[in-house]
Amino acid sequence: MKTHQKRGMLVTIEGTEGVGKTTNIDFAKAWLAAQNIDVTTTREPGGTPFAEQIRELLLATRDEPVAPLAELLMVFAGRAQHLHRLIEPTLSAGGWVICDRFTDASYAYQGAGRGIDPQLIEQLEAIVQQGLQPDLTLILDIPVAEGLKRASARSEPDRFEREQVAFFERVRGCYLARAEREPLRCVVIDASQSITAVQAQLDRALTAFLQRSGQ
Ligand code: TMP
Repeated sequence: MKTHQKRGMLVTIEGTEGVGKTTNIDFAKAWLAAQNIDVTTTREPGGTPFAEQIRELLLATRDEPVAPLAELLMVFAGRAQHLHRLIEPTLSAGGWVICDRFTDASYAYQGAGRGIDPQLIEQLEAIVQQGLQPDLTLILDIPVAEGLKRASARSEPDRFEREQVAFFERVRGCYLARAEREPLRCVVIDASQSITAVQAQLDRALTAFLQRSGQ
């Protein structure tokens, strides 16, 4: 008889620019792998070839101003493809997914950042995700100025990174407010600390999550 496959977990990592998501995703993946958990890492916007093309369109700097609604719809178009082709099949097969940004970023960037009504984002979220929500969201938090300094030392700024400090303050504020509203799902990590101290926080968050979810 075919045994019922236990569904995997969706872990998302969020934060403003330059918070060190990549390093911390590598750490979380290795941490979970050490618990014999099979993890696929991916990102948004992106995650499949089609959605990566949407990412390129979204991040490219251009002379034509992009309407916030057009931006939001593109983000959710990529998300629909990503869910259909990668996230859902992986979770259904029992694998875990760590996703570098997900829908919290749409509330933070398109909602708080660009001023789109969060109720509209909720509607798209309901249509595209059909009730699917991350099981755990790690929000890496640092003061905006510090993050922007780190990000600008890394590469040429993309279309989002060219925004003003006030935009990122709104983004950060939205992440923190969402974490406060959903304390079970969201854990705020103080990413301004040393790598070792940040990893200790991740260790605690992942340990607590595994205990809570009975894994
Ligand atoms: P990244 O540089 O962290 O990979 O993210 C690319 C940009 O995409 C980042 O500036 C935030 C933006 N973004 C949104 O505006 N809305 C979204 O829903 C997602 C997932 C990302």
